[in-house]
Amino acid sequence: MPEPIPEPPPGAPAAALPVAGASTANCLVVDDEPGVRRSLVRMLEAQGFRCYEAGSGHEGLAVLERLQGESPLVISDMRMPELDGMGFLKEVRERYPDTSVIMLSGMTETATAVDCLHLGAADFLLKPISLGELQARVTRVLEKRALVLQNRFYQQHLEHRVKEQAQRIQDLFLQGVQMLARALEAKDAYTRGHSIRVSRYAVATAARLGFEGPALDCIRLGGELHDIGKIGTREAVLHKPGSLTDDEFRQITEHPALGERMLSPLAYESPQVLCIVRSHHERLDGRGFPDGLRGDTIPLEARIVAVADTFDAMTTERPYRASRSPDDAIAELRRVAGTQLDPDAVEAFVSAFPDLGALPLSA
Ligand SMILES: [Fe+2]
Repeated sequence: MPEPIPEPPPGAPAAALPVAGASTANCLVVDDEPGVRRSLVRMLEAQGFRCYEAGSGHEGLAVLERLQGESPLVISDMRMPELDGMGFLKEVRERYPDTSVIMLSGMTETATAVDCLHLGAADFLLKPISLGELQARVTRVLEKRALVLQNRFYQQHLEHRVKEQAQRIQDLFLQGVQMLARALEAKDAYTRGHSIRVSRYAVATAARLGFEGPALDCIRLGGELHDIGKIGTREAVLHKPGSLTDDEFRQITEHPALGERMLSPLAYESPQVLCIVRSHHERLDGRGFPDGLRGDTIPLEARIVAVADTFDAMTTERPYRASRSPDDAIAELRRVAGTQLDPDAVEAFVSAFPDLGALPLSA
């Protein structure tokens, strides 16, 4: 069951401030006339604010700095010495974008009001202003601010939750297919441990070729799951000791494409894993399957896994042939490098395991 979405933090109040008493939110009043300032402060205190005063724009910015921006509301006069209302508004909007600024002016030009609103003022009031009007405008401005903050909070939180759940879905899917891979190997004594060994060989080879981080993780997973499509191949065909009929060979060649289809939920997050599964039986000379790709058109990840897969197949006993020694298998890898296998991947594999005689080949 999904966890409930937590309540927004204190910085994102849901409702407008009450008209009297209950709130202790900060409010900064900036006006160079002490009389006007005091009268505004009295009105705002009656509305429940903890008020701070400043006689100029510069003083106002210093107060906000002391409050570390913890003032949801600023009310500022337009005409002030030094930094005037417009300059002050610009600074506040830039430094504290979540603070709502109401501009006050004795001027009646609509152009000034429009300029202020363009600069991000939440409202523009003309002096003299009554208690009722101030309270109504403040309430409206803070309601809007709360909605913006709440909306942002829910959006961010939901994005995080969606990402978490997508990751969880992918993890569960992967656990499922890894269990399937184990089940496949459990049925087949000859390939037991094959996927894990291929994955280990391929990761060491890829690291030699410069793969790291998530790209290396894809090699690891692709190696583990490369034969997952064999779950759809009849056991009688998988374990047949003699040579295969055309129809049986066709069934074997279907496992890469079937595996890719099974793993399609990884297509968005890990497309390289799907490339490995689909293309690990391609050959450089174009005689592989299922697509007959040639040379560099075969994804490098798949060419690396092909080397690891070929080495492990040769050094493991199969129903239709005995296993080879590691040295013999390496000689064979080098012999087919350039026609079947990527020569760089073969040499990277050999250099990643300088002491092949010590490999736990039957692990
Ligand atoms: Fe395979």
